[in-house]
Amino acid sequence: MNVADTELIVGILRRAGYATADSPASADVILINTCAIREHAEDRVLGRLSELVRFKHERPAMRFGLLGCMAQHNRAALLKRAPWLDLVAGPDSYRRLPEMLGRAQFDPTVDVRLDREETYAGVSADHTPGVRAYVTAMRGCDKFCAFCVVPYVRGRERSVPPDAIVAEVAELAANGVREIVLLGQTVNAYRFGEIDFGRLLAMVAAIDGIERIRFTSPHPADMTDSVIDAMAAERKVQPQLHLPVQSGSDRMLAAMERGYTVDQYLRLVERIRAAVKGIALSTDIIVGFHGEERADFDATLDLVRAVGFDSAFTFKYSVREHTRAFRLGDSVDEEEKGRRLAELISVQESIALARNRELLGRETAVLVEGPARRDAGRMMGKTPQFKTAFFPAAPGIDTGAIVNVRVESVTAHSLTCALA
Ligand code: 5AD
Ligand code: SF4
Repeated sequence: MNVADTELIVGILRRAGYATADSPASADVILINTCAIREHAEDRVLGRLSELVRFKHERPAMRFGLLGCMAQHNRAALLKRAPWLDLVAGPDSYRRLPEMLGRAQFDPTVDVRLDREETYAGVSADHTPGVRAYVTAMRGCDKFCAFCVVPYVRGRERSVPPDAIVAEVAELAANGVREIVLLGQTVNAYRFGEIDFGRLLAMVAAIDGIERIRFTSPHPADMTDSVIDAMAAERKVQPQLHLPVQSGSDRMLAAMERGYTVDQYLRLVERIRAAVKGIALSTDIIVGFHGEERADFDATLDLVRAVGFDSAFTFKYSVREHTRAFRLGDSVDEEEKGRRLAELISVQESIALARNRELLGRETAVLVEGPARRDAGRMMGKTPQFKTAFFPAAPGIDTGAIVNVRVESVTAHSLTCALA
């Protein structure tokens, strides 16, 4: 989401006459786009700010700004800690950046107004060149999970008009993009008039030149028949789904206000697996939410084993100001959170390895992304299941091509293949 927002910001600034600098030392403006999801993300931003502030000291005319969710989350604390910031802008203020930068020459400017209507429809993003592009389908979130700051920093759910999405994807396809990832905090809650997310998937799938479609992140509660049917019916929609579960304990899911039980989640997984053969599933899990007992954590391990996720993003619970869980507290100490996280990661790694081992000897189609970074003579790409595959470079195997490979060896995180 933030990569896509940064591409949007770059697009807005380029049209206002700005160009990308080669280094912070030569920049007239430095903007940091930020995340507020966990304290760790905020700490990293503060570290980065203190690293970059020397450029401001060396060249006082340089303007230094902080954008995004952290600007929205704790603007007051920020301006105290970093009084030399010239500009602070929240996620709904990017259209006004050129004018804010103009004013910031004279006075610090802050704009963290949230706007229920802002979708940036028709504002072209400066997409990073590549075979894959990220396209925002909806912004904001109305779910208010007890632990999560997103609804407060990104505001209410709103969908980008479908014609704007189709126009953006068509232009990307004309520029050689092969794969589209539709984005939104709860992307499958997409609705614009009669068009729900299932319909949107079909509209994007109808665009020539696009070969693959993915989306992230869907919410289990919005995984309607319409969405599942579109995934099953549209050849271009890839057999891969990131479906955040957060916990395997009904007690924790209720406290988190996630809106489903373990049983409902498992039944959903069954329906999806029945509809989309060979689908890869990944998830997000939080350990050590307030009140989590060993038995709750064991239930999470049980769920992880029962589903057999291909991969998982795992996080220690981080208390966030403004959220509903803020006043509850933080009952699991950091060490215990660390132990649970390590245990969960180790269980998940062995599941991921076992799942990848099932692929040994099989053929799969890979969308070529380019040379492997650490391995001269090899290329890298993704399988339909979004697994990273490495394979030998050969004449005619160019970036953007889809090639058939055979899996020869695997780790929990990648496949090494021969050309089939
Ligand atoms: N603490 C830890 N993890 C969090 N996430 C969201 N809020 C928090 C928090 N306060 C995780 C969830 C979500 C992912 C993007 O970040 O797992 O799905
Ligand atoms: Fe946060 Fe829940 Fe919304 Fe996801 S669905 S962004 S976890 S409030």
